[in-house]
Amino acid sequence: MADHTIATVELGTGGPLVGVQGLGCMGMSEFYGDTDEAEARGTLQAALDAGVTLIDTADIYGQGANEEFLAPFVAAHRGEITLATKFAIDRSAGDDRRTVRNDPAYIRTAVEGSLRRLGVDVIDLYYMHRRDPGVPLAESVGAMAELVERGLVKHLGLSEVTGAELREAHAVHPIAALQSEWSLFSRDVERSAVGAAAELGVAFVPYSPLGRGFLTGAFQDAGADLSAKDFRRFQPRFTGDNARTNAALLEPVRAIAAEHGASPAQVALAWVQQRADVHGLTVVPIPGTRRTTRLLENVAATRLRLAPEELAALEPIAGKVAGDRYPDMSSTSAARE
Ligand SMILES: NC(=O)c1ccc[n+]([C@@H]2O[C@H](COP(=O)([O-])OP(=O)(O)OC[C@H]3O[C@@H](n4cnc5c(N)ncnc54)[C@H](OP(=O)(O)O)[C@@H]3O)[C@@H](O)[C@H]2O)c1
Repeated sequence: MADHTIATVELGTGGPLVGVQGLGCMGMSEFYGDTDEAEARGTLQAALDAGVTLIDTADIYGQGANEEFLAPFVAAHRGEITLATKFAIDRSAGDDRRTVRNDPAYIRTAVEGSLRRLGVDVIDLYYMHRRDPGVPLAESVGAMAELVERGLVKHLGLSEVTGAELREAHAVHPIAALQSEWSLFSRDVERSAVGAAAELGVAFVPYSPLGRGFLTGAFQDAGADLSAKDFRRFQPRFTGDNARTNAALLEPVRAIAAEHGASPAQVALAWVQQRADVHGLTVVPIPGTRRTTRLLENVAATRLRLAPEELAALEPIAGKVAGDRYPDMSSTSAARE
């Protein structure tokens, strides 16, 4: 591997070797306003050139459009990437009537759709995106394990599950990765999920490690800063008084960034890497970006080390954040702890 590429790590015990930072592709199709397609495609190539190999999508991003968008890139680089997608959030009845589906029949249908849209015959890492507590976990993971047996999926992952749920699932079939929100602003996973992942040898894939962009220092007030198509206009942390409170919390992040000649985004990414070291587990954060310059900035954060006193200065931030991670927290792991 050339010098300019990032280090690699095993994604869970016995899992694929991936770059220590992955790429979240959600924003390329939905949620964060308009996308310049050529720029987004350039970002994918820049990621690969930098050694970023874990490529993250889901069947709901753009209602399949994100998987279709990725297909040409996947076809050109099939052997060089670890392709991750997800099922479980059913938007077919409209966005105001989304449901979480974990039943085996749904899983068997969902995987066919993802394989078709991605243009592949096997998915490297297949996640259950959300948990429906109405379906026994062993049934859902059992159905996912059947996909492995059928050769449609190589490794299994879960998203937004508690530590107890991760243990239960892992006893049915090895889980390679747990993907949940983990950042300077969102640390509820440290209550049980992180410890369970460390104990079981499951890799942790922090999603929204930049707090959906808030930790980059770009936002003060959602009404003023975000386009009409941007779903963050409805996120509690981005709106009104909460946004002002949360923007003020970034002061130590900015100060530490200035000390290192780095950006707040890089400090946020270095923090999650080092927080994982404290817990003794492997992390592969998947910051989302559609721009090559930001991709390179994020990748460079894998080489940033924060000093113990800097980590201490960042420690109180999460406890002071105003507003929940979602307007409706009912399908997060935190709601079941
Ligand atoms: N499992 C789940 O339930 C779940 C939930 C949410 C997300 N995810 C996955 O996690 C990935 C990452 O999460 P996310 O995209 O929600 O949030 P994020 O990575 O915390 O932040 C993404 C936002 O930050 C901006 N950004 C990225 N790098 C930047 C930089 N260096 N400087 C300034 N701004 C920067 C991006 O804008 P630009 O794109 O314009 O650069 C985008 O608006 C997603 O793409 C998705 O694959 C999973």
